Amino acid sequence: MLAGRRVVLGVTGGIAAYKAVEVCRRLVDDGAFVSPVLTDGALRFVGATTFSALASEPVRTELWDAADPIPHTRLGQGADVIVVAPATARLLSDYASGRSADLLTATLIATEAPVVVCPAMHTEMWEHPAVQENVATLRRRGVHIVDPEQGRLAGGDLGTGRLAAPEAIVAAVRAALAAPDLEGLQVVVTAGGTREALDPVRYLGNRSSGRQGHAIAQAAAERGGDVTLVTAAGLATPPGVRRVDVESAQQMYDSVLALAASADIVVMAAAVADFRPVVVCAEKLKKRDGVPTVQLEPTPDILAALGATKRPGQTIVGFAAETQDVATNALDKLARKGADLIVANDVSAPGVGFEHETNQVTVLGADGHRVEIPLASKRAIARRVIDEVVALRTSHTRETTP
Ligand code: CTP
Repeated sequence: MLAGRRVVLGVTGGIAAYKAVEVCRRLVDDGAFVSPVLTDGALRFVGATTFSALASEPVRTELWDAADPIPHTRLGQGADVIVVAPATARLLSDYASGRSADLLTATLIATEAPVVVCPAMHTEMWEHPAVQENVATLRRRGVHIVDPEQGRLAGGDLGTGRLAAPEAIVAAVRAALAAPDLEGLQVVVTAGGTREALDPVRYLGNRSSGRQGHAIAQAAAERGGDVTLVTAAGLATPPGVRRVDVESAQQMYDSVLALAASADIVVMAAAVADFRPVVVCAEKLKKRDGVPTVQLEPTPDILAALGATKRPGQTIVGFAAETQDVATNALDKLARKGADLIVANDVSAPGVGFEHETNQVTVLGADGHRVEIPLASKRAIARRVIDEVVALRTSHTRETTP
C-alpha cells in the first residue's frame, strides 16, 4: 500500500529521534518515497547523514534553501502523507496554533495530505493541560494522533510518553492512506491453529502460524474496521485490534459465535482442528501404562455454523488449505459451509501456506467469480483479500438498492 507513495517524515528534537531512523527504514522497505525533514532540535540527537543513507529522497533541514526557494509548499503539496515522529510538545503547540516556525511546521501548514503525529515526551509534559488541549485541537482537525506508550523514559523514569513502536507508526501511516471503507463495520477475524488437549501437557495441533489471520486483522483495522481477532497464535496483536486468545476449537467456536451476532464481516482464517480427543486425561499419560488408544470426535464446524446463522448484510469468508484439486475442493467447501467467499491456497506449492512469510491464493465467490492473487507477502495478500470483501459488499449493496 505504501509502494510509490510520497511520505514526508518529520523528525523533531526529542531523544526518541533515534527511533525515527527505524521508522524511515520501514517506510522505505514498504516501497515509499521518503523525504525526511529534520528540525534543528532533531539534528542535536541524530545526524542528517543517517537519514540520507536510508531515505530515497534528499534530507531537508532548512526553510531557506537557496536551491529550492519554496521547499515547504513543494513538500506539502507533493506529499501523500506526512508523519511526524517523534513530535515534541513544541511541535504540537506550533502546529495547533498554525505557527510556521521552521521547514517542518511550514510544510504541515502548507499541506492538504493526511498527517500522522506521534508525540513523545516526559509524562508530566504529556499530561500538561496545554499539551492535551493542543492534541485535542489537532485531533478535531482530523490529524491522526498515535498516542505515546507507557514505558521507560529518558533518565530512567517510568510512565506514559514513550514514542509508539515503529510498526505501530508505520501501520498508522498506512491507515491514514487507506480508504476508510470498513469504517463503522464490525469485523471478526480468526487466526492460528487450534490445540486439542490430550492431557495437561500434550495436544493435537497443526502447522498454522497465524500470520495470515493476524495480517488480515491488521489490514481490516487499517481500513477503519472495528476488529476483533480471535487467535490461537502467540503472535503480537496488530495495532488497533481487539484480541481474544483461545486454544481449542470449542473455545474459538464459543467466542466467534458470540461475536458474530453483531459482526458485519467474519473471516475464518484459522486452521481449526477437525477432531479432538473424546477424553482429556486429567493427569499426564504415563509411558508405563502402555501405548494409549486415543479416540477422536469431530469438533464443531465454526464456518458452517456461521453460514447457517448468517444475517442479511453479513459477509462470511472461509479459507481452504488444500494440497490437491484446490479450486474444486474450495468451491465444495464454499457451498457446503454457506460462505460468501473462500480464500483457497495450495499449501504444497513453494512459498505458500503455513510456515512461509508469503502466500498465493485464489479467492472464489459464491456468485461464481474467481480472482487469482499471485505470490506476495501475507500482509499484501491480506490487503487484497479485504479488497475482495469490500468489492463483494459493494456489489451486494448495489444489487439490493433500488
Ligand atoms: N473450519 C471451521 N471449523 C472447523 C474446521 C474448519 O470453521 N471445525 C473453517 C476453517 O477456518 C476454514 C474452513 O473451515 O475457514 C475450511 O477449513 P479446512 O480445514 O480447509 O476444511 P475442512 O472443513 O476441515 O475440510 P478438510 O479438512 O476435509 O479439507
